[in-house]
Formats: sequence, C-alpha cells, structure tokens
Amino acid sequence: MRVLGIETSCDETGIALYDSELGLLADLLYSQIDLHQAYGGVVPELASRDHIRRCLPMIDQIMTQTNTDKAQIDAIAYTEGPGLIGALLVGASIAKSLALAWGVPAIGVHHMEGHLQATQMTSAPPEYPFVALLVSGGHTQLMACDEPGRYELLGESVDDAAGEAFDKVAKMLGLGYPGGPEVAKLALEGDPSRFTFPRPMTQKPGLNFSFSGLKTHTMNTLNALEDPNHSDRADIARAFEDAAVDTIAIKCGRALEQTGFTTLVVAGGVSANTRLRATLAKLSARQVININYPELKYCTDNGAMIAIAGLLRQAQWQSHDHTIVARPRWPMTELPAVSL
Ligand code: KG4
Ligand code: ZN
Repeated sequence: MRVLGIETSCDETGIALYDSELGLLADLLYSQIDLHQAYGGVVPELASRDHIRRCLPMIDQIMTQTNTDKAQIDAIAYTEGPGLIGALLVGASIAKSLALAWGVPAIGVHHMEGHLQATQMTSAPPEYPFVALLVSGGHTQLMACDEPGRYELLGESVDDAAGEAFDKVAKMLGLGYPGGPEVAKLALEGDPSRFTFPRPMTQKPGLNFSFSGLKTHTMNTLNALEDPNHSDRADIARAFEDAAVDTIAIKCGRALEQTGFTTLVVAGGVSANTRLRATLAKLSARQVININYPELKYCTDNGAMIAIAGLLRQAQWQSHDHTIVARPRWPMTELPAVSL
C-alpha cells in the first residue's frame, strides 16, 4: 500500500510518500520559519497562504522524484486536526480534490497520532501498552495507550503547552522563533546553580501540568535583573529548561507507576529536546524499561508521520466522503480503536 501524506496544520508544509512494504520513499518539508520570524510567532493567515503556494508543487515534485504514477497511490492521508483552521483547510481541500480525481480515499489524520506514529520509522517501534507523552507547540498530554488507536487521557496542561512555554520564554530572552531549540542552545551556556525555578504541580498528586506560572516566574527573574547580559539570559534559560524538563519527567514517572506500563513513547516537537531525553533516561528502571522517540528529524511536523498514521487507519479507507472537514480542536480520545 502506498500513501501520500500531507501535513499543513501549522507552519510547515510536509509532503511524503510512504509504502507499507518499502517504508519511507521520500519526504519534503518546507518550513515557514523565515516568513513568521519577523512577527515572533506564526501568523495564521500567512501560514494558510504559504501552504496554498507550496502544496501542489511539492506533491508534483515528490511524484516525479520517486517516479511514482498516480495509479500507484492507494490513499491520501492529510492532517484533519488539530491545528490552525485555515492551514488545515488547505491540506484537506487538496487531499480531497486529488482523492476525487484519482479515485482513492482521503484519510483525515489526527496530528498527534501522527507524531506518535513517527516512532514507526525507528529500528524498534514501541510495543503496546505504553504511556505516551505528547509535547508540542499546542499539546502537553499524557495518554495511556493499551491498543492501537485508543488513547485514555491521564493528564494534560491546564494552560500553556510545553512548546508554547519554550516559545514564550525565548521571546522574553530576545531569541528567535521557534523558541524551543533557541532556549535549549542558550541554556547550554547557563550556570545551573544560579537560579532554581519551581516545578509546577509536582507537589500535588495528579498528572496535569501548568506552565503559565513558570513562565511568569521566568519573566519576574529577568525583570529583577538590571540590564541583563548574555550570561544572565543563559542562566535563566538553563533554570527554565531544567524546571520544565524535570516537571515533565516527574509526571512521566508517575504516569508509568499509575498504569503499571513500562514503555514510554515521547512525541511532538519538544521530544527533540536533548535535556528532556537525558532527564527521562534517569527515570528508574522500576518505572520505565523502554523509552521510544522518533528520529530527531521526525520529532517536529512532517508529512511522513501523517502518511503512516493514514496507513494505521486503513479500516477507514472505504469512506469516499468528499466533504471537506477540518477540526481545529479534536480530542485524541475521540478516535476509534483500530484493529490491526
Ligand atoms: O510538533 P511541533 O513541530 O508542532 C506542533 O505540533 O506544535 O512542535 C513545535 C514545538 C515548538 O513550540 C518548538 O519550540 C518546540 O516544539 N521544540 C522544542 C525543541 N524543538 C522544537 N522545544 C524544546 N527543545 C527543542 N529542542
Ligand atoms: Zn506537531
């Protein structure tokens, strides 16, 4: 089975061709970072317009470069949600139109299931059951997954998502967008003993997160310094990163203990964070035996993960509904289980 994957939920146009036998045939990514950089964050209208510009030429390019004829495509998977409505509608419209023209099904994929499925492109994909930590620009969630496609929410952020907190702290520190990698880079120069920031909601039981207070604490620390220099900012970046990462790791340990599962799957843009990976590696063997991450390149948004999630949901391929649907908000717990 060969699936064309289309990702347009935010600021990256991702197009990929994935074959169930041969694996990933090709993937193309166009990042809009330069477009949004001047605004310090994603401008939704600009994002939609750019997806419209890029999508079809990229699809044409991937078909040509892999010598693929439209007759070889069995399905088109696209991100149905969650994400920016205008950006989602671009991918949905193109996917549904091509599907109608080519006589194949168009499969609406959940973006976060895509992030999780990116682990299929590793040498040892995770085995069920597992706890999923989903950490991106829009999500911070812990899910229990005991069978493919079924997700039980264990906890989530009551305010900012982890990636969003990184992005906002980056802005405070005068760094570029997206902020996560920039904060992580600056934190490498920071002194970890200078400031200790709070680990929010770790004193109370439960698996929810809150990053808004940590963000304010970061801002207050910065404002309390007179004319902060580069090394002050690096120390703050380090204190913030340590606090965010520790908090996430503590909750992951708890989720594993609560479920009794011993596999943790970490996905979404923040899973690229080196300090998060190092801290999770220190969870005790009693708590976690396997930790799976996508390859670094596939931690952030891409078309390959959408194609693979489309393959996972093969049971829904019979549907030839041509209505164009996008779901900016879409709880993952609403997804039906898939029988493999
Ligand atoms: O999954 P993703 O590419 O897009 C969404 O679905 O949101 O995640 C993007 C988020 C951004 O907030 C970005 O700052 C964060 O992931 N991110 C990181 C790192 N790389 C990306 N955060 C911390 N450390 C990183 N190395
Ligand atoms: Zn994402």
